[in-house]
Amino acid sequence: MCGIVGYEGGRQACEILIDALSRLEYRGYDSAGIALLGEGAIHIERRKGKVEELRKIVSGAALKGSIGLAHTRWATHGVPSERNAHPHRAGDVVVVHNGIVENYLELKERLKKAGHVFMSDTDTEVIPHLIADYAQKGRDFTDSVRLALKELKGSWAIGVLKESERTLVAAKNQSPLIVGIGDGEYFIASDIPAIINRTDRFVFLEDNDMAIFKGRSMRLINVDGEDVVREVRQVRWATAMAEKGGYRHFMLKEIFEQPRAISDTLLGRAREEEGEVEFEGVELPDLAGLRKIWMVACGTSHHACMIGKHMIETNLRIPVETDVASEFRYRDPIVSPGDLFIAVSQSGETADTIAAMREARSRGASTLSICNVLGSTLAREADNVVFTHAGPEIGVASTKAFTTQIAVMFLLMLYIGRRVGILDCQDVRERLQEIRSVPRKVQSVLDRARCIQTAAGRYMSFRNFLFLGRGINFPTALEGALKLKEISYIHAEAHAAGEMKHGPIALIDEGMPVVCVSPSDRTCKKTCGNMEEVLARKGSVLLVSDDEAHEMAARATEVIAVPRTVYELQPILSMVPLQLLAYHIADLLGMDVDQPRNLAKSVTVE
Ligand code: AGP
Repeated sequence: MCGIVGYEGGRQACEILIDALSRLEYRGYDSAGIALLGEGAIHIERRKGKVEELRKIVSGAALKGSIGLAHTRWATHGVPSERNAHPHRAGDVVVVHNGIVENYLELKERLKKAGHVFMSDTDTEVIPHLIADYAQKGRDFTDSVRLALKELKGSWAIGVLKESERTLVAAKNQSPLIVGIGDGEYFIASDIPAIINRTDRFVFLEDNDMAIFKGRSMRLINVDGEDVVREVRQVRWATAMAEKGGYRHFMLKEIFEQPRAISDTLLGRAREEEGEVEFEGVELPDLAGLRKIWMVACGTSHHACMIGKHMIETNLRIPVETDVASEFRYRDPIVSPGDLFIAVSQSGETADTIAAMREARSRGASTLSICNVLGSTLAREADNVVFTHAGPEIGVASTKAFTTQIAVMFLLMLYIGRRVGILDCQDVRERLQEIRSVPRKVQSVLDRARCIQTAAGRYMSFRNFLFLGRGINFPTALEGALKLKEISYIHAEAHAAGEMKHGPIALIDEGMPVVCVSPSDRTCKKTCGNMEEVLARKGSVLLVSDDEAHEMAARATEVIAVPRTVYELQPILSMVPLQLLAYHIADLLGMDVDQPRNLAKSVTVE
């Protein structure tokens, strides 16, 4: 996700915009830019790097203009660079954008044929060209924007300027955009933090709304040109809270961003109508002879690999070997030419994972990375890369990266299944329909977050936890234990449920709560036996299941029920309560949830 801001009023816009932009850097920070409409001309400055780099340039230039836009980027298409930084322009039309234009390739081809010349690799750049195209056909500024938006597919929050017009147009669809109302001045921003210091009066635009600011007045319409009315709301946040969007910590904000992050990760890729999955820019080698897939990563990303293994082996019957990167690279792995090596990493900079991928490549494997950061080392060095569109993950404890990694792996399983001829279009169509329902199901779990917060109060005093799961639920249990231990410093270990009788059961007593991840799937009955073993030894069981009809629901000490989905995607739903449980226990204990001791967000050293 990116951050956009805009201003129309009686003051000089430059410093107002730079200040607002710097408050949005948590939304993305690989490049930044500003456009100011002075006396007729629009002046644009763009810089790779953080907002501070831009500030250095503009503060000395004393740029004039009382209408302007600014943008800080989190790259989704086109690596971080000045040429890919926003604002983007076409003739006298200038645009900043947060979102993903799903159909940008077809629009770009059509506009090129009409003579438009593109300067960047971004999806965004089609927007100013499309608007300019309508303007060249005689449409007025507002109509040109409106008609262009009606052709876009995907998500957008945009600000648009046109040199001949002393007007700022804003529009929103699926990406957030708010209007701040000052005294004779207006602001637009991706999020409240950007302008909380300028006003406490806001209009929250809704999908397909447009806002037109001219002569220090505002008009609201929709993309069909009809006037709309939106409530003006008062928001009083302390600035410190504002940067986290009103959440106490980035981690909690990112847990709640998961429905949007998963939806964004599906955008442009899940093609239900055709029964296909498309990954832009991915060209896997001929998979007919594919004999083995490797999935290698560290920490949370390794747990996602273990889930990916279940997906691929269950559906495609292609052997998948997973490993932690720090082990893989030193065990003289038996990698054969033609193997597919998948490196998974939120940051794309984990030293062990980078080294593991280089080792695999040196042994003849083709490489594919699943990353969340464009321009990162793993994204650049792999033969192919598929991005999780989770947006910046600031909290050290990984949450939305994990669930979007699982979503990507599910899509990749379908993509490979089609190319090796094991899955037909109908198979893919049915599974895509299921993953489309996952964001809504995640939201339904988040809507009940308060009961998990209450449960956390009952568990915060324990000093040891055991997490159990079978099959695809074992990596989920591992991830639940990691979440708890890394932010609360409580000892938590996870085991395959069937391993209990081989040692861990000796740990069971009243002081060792057991969190059991056991949806009603093919392993459920066996795991019920393990839960009985715990209860028989005065242990307590917190059951995370997919409905309350679970045969252990009545016997478990506590049950957290989540909606049901297909086996391969259930870990996404099971994980959300475990993330919330870890978060609330740590928060109740007063821990530094976003920056836990001894940890870093990206382990760039061995
Ligand atoms: C997860 O909560 C941790 N922050 C850590 O295990 C992390 O997943 C691991 O360091 C891998 O990071 P990456 O995904 O950026 O490669």
